Amino acid sequence: MAGRLMRALVYDGYVNGVHVEVTIPSPSKDEVLIKVEATSLNPVDWKAAKFRILLRPFLSKTSHSPIPCNDVAGEVVEIGSGVQKFKPGDKVVSVMNIFTAGGLSEYCVAKEKVTVSRPAQVSAADAAGLPVAGLSAHLALTHYVGLKLEHEHEHDENEPRKNILITAASGGVGHYAVQLAKMGNAHVTATCGARNVELVKGLGADEVLDYKTAEGASLTSPSGRKYDAVIHCAPTVSWSVFEPNLVENGIVADLTHPPSTRVMWTNAVNKISLSKKKWLTFTLNPQDDQALKFLVGLVKDGKLKTIIDSKHALSRGEEAWSRGISGHATGKIIVEP
Ligand SMILES: NC(=O)c1ccc[n+]([C@@H]2O[C@H](COP(=O)([O-])OP(=O)(O)OC[C@H]3O[C@@H](n4cnc5c(N)ncnc54)[C@H](OP(=O)(O)O)[C@@H]3O)[C@@H](O)[C@H]2O)c1
Repeated sequence: MAGRLMRALVYDGYVNGVHVEVTIPSPSKDEVLIKVEATSLNPVDWKAAKFRILLRPFLSKTSHSPIPCNDVAGEVVEIGSGVQKFKPGDKVVSVMNIFTAGGLSEYCVAKEKVTVSRPAQVSAADAAGLPVAGLSAHLALTHYVGLKLEHEHEHDENEPRKNILITAASGGVGHYAVQLAKMGNAHVTATCGARNVELVKGLGADEVLDYKTAEGASLTSPSGRKYDAVIHCAPTVSWSVFEPNLVENGIVADLTHPPSTRVMWTNAVNKISLSKKKWLTFTLNPQDDQALKFLVGLVKDGKLKTIIDSKHALSRGEEAWSRGISGHATGKIIVEP
């Protein structure tokens, strides 16, 4: 592939994409080169492009802007000298490094350690939805909320069920989070727009709030439950809205909020007032293939589904980008070369 060109869509700023022809990347020792069959978009793509505008004065003017998109499903066409798990022809799904990305193209390189085989039963589009959104939902529920999701985990009848609120349950992260939380035997309250209430119930949510109603805005459970945890995927909500809805030691796992003085201040005030409630923020940074393998297995077994908002050709990738920026996707936006 050395020296051959491929098509890609790059973003130097927030809105205007540019179609470019660039050299197909070569895999390093621990990487595979993937012929992309599907990629999916995530808000981090346009957030990073926006951030890049601030950095523009300091960036090299000679190279093209980075190719966005972290989620890729496709076929291995070349392997680095140290790669052991894969060979050319293998169907895979992978998650790119958040800084280098590269999925909005015909070919991209991915680290072997975060790449997973894709069985024939799992389509490229369904697989491409999983990495960032599915892994974030999985990390929040297992690591921060403590749910056990493994296939073989038998739920103890006497074990108390956790009450979990998932905001923006119709979005990329939220729709996976609802399904995974149900596997973890949680009682799920979800928020979404009126048009998606039935869809979110269909994913397993026990109760659903329309976020445009007063009840939805206050996040109050219709059955009067307090939440052990909130998986927050919707636009900013202040701590004063979360706080009264939490149990004594409840947590908010906030995907949308970068670590900030507001979060640190809230947690400091909680500590001083002897409250055990916590506001947690985190950023996905996968280092192995375990969770992605688990999610792909669930899709293969028909236990987890990717809701696809829309599919777009790479040649019309700007339409996918605009759809994403609108903040109104239901499930995942997919681009196919
Ligand atoms: N920290 C991390 O590592 C990490 C990882 C992944 C994602 N994230 C962040 O998590 C957030 C969610 O990502 P995503 O991919 O799920 O977003 P998304 O797919 O763009 O979310 C779109 C959905 O959100 C719904 N929505 C909008 N406002 C809402 C509100 N106030 N209440 C309830 N639902 C609302 C929309 O419904 P309507 O169309 O009906 O308005 C739409 O269905 C983003 O901020 C993203 O950057 C962080």
